[in-house]
Amino acid sequence: MRRPFARALTVPLAVLVAAAVLPLASSAPAVADEGVIGGSAVKTSDHPWVVALSSRDRFGGMRSGQFCGGVLVARSTVITAAHCMSEEVLGVPRNRVSDLKVIAGRTDLRTTEGVEIPPSSEWINPDYDSRTNSGDVAVLTLSKPLPAGDVLPMAEEGDPAYKAGTKASVYGWGDTTGTGKYPNTLRAAQVQVLADAVCEQAYPGNADGTYMAKTMLCAGELGGGKDACQGDSGGPLVAQGKLVGLVSWGSGCGRPKSPGVYTRVSDVVKVLQQHG
Ligand code: ARG
Repeated sequence: MRRPFARALTVPLAVLVAAAVLPLASSAPAVADEGVIGGSAVKTSDHPWVVALSSRDRFGGMRSGQFCGGVLVARSTVITAAHCMSEEVLGVPRNRVSDLKVIAGRTDLRTTEGVEIPPSSEWINPDYDSRTNSGDVAVLTLSKPLPAGDVLPMAEEGDPAYKAGTKASVYGWGDTTGTGKYPNTLRAAQVQVLADAVCEQAYPGNADGTYMAKTMLCAGELGGGKDACQGDSGGPLVAQGKLVGLVSWGSGCGRPKSPGVYTRVSDVVKVLQQHG
């Protein structure tokens, strides 16, 4: 499902809060076990560059208002998915969400550990195409810098980490089952970078999106079972100590032959250079 929150957000927020155990409930029927999908619990102290995007106004306070992930790529720069800023995800236009925050250092969303920082500015890729999902990146500039040691470097074009078969990990607080079960703590799953030919074959173009090797990369396990899912969007795919992808889309979660599709970070680097 590419429109994870559209359904949930058509109901009034009060109803969502009342149904607070499933604040981001999705209608996606899907397979797979626990995770991200098929993952295990990890700590932000070991992966300080993983951040949560939050709006308690839109998503309720139970899980700190978490609705997407993001990655710290410079002391004051978080990158995330462009679609995380869309009306489809937020339920209202971006300019009507006044309590957007980046949360760093909070493994367990039920706590107040770490910091909450409102962005001082943001940039949503004007070339993001919601039909194919190409160019799915946005930049949030933090009003207060985080420690330099928390930053994750981005893998540029030609980096060996993009090679098919490379082991990579995806991180997030998203759905662990494909049925709208949102964990309170951060999770990670190990996947592998798949060949563009495999991704193109999986996604020649359907209602969920179209695989485009220039701006996307895909990763998973050939048999499924390990994947990102709704609520993980914008979060990191990390290989060889560098950021290679941002969680973007997929058909279902963890399904065989439907790998997770990520924004290709080497293309993000170029886009950011172009837009200064
Ligand atoms: N679009 C989803 C979100 O907003 C992420 C979906 C990722 N899906 C996948 N099967 N890898 O959270």
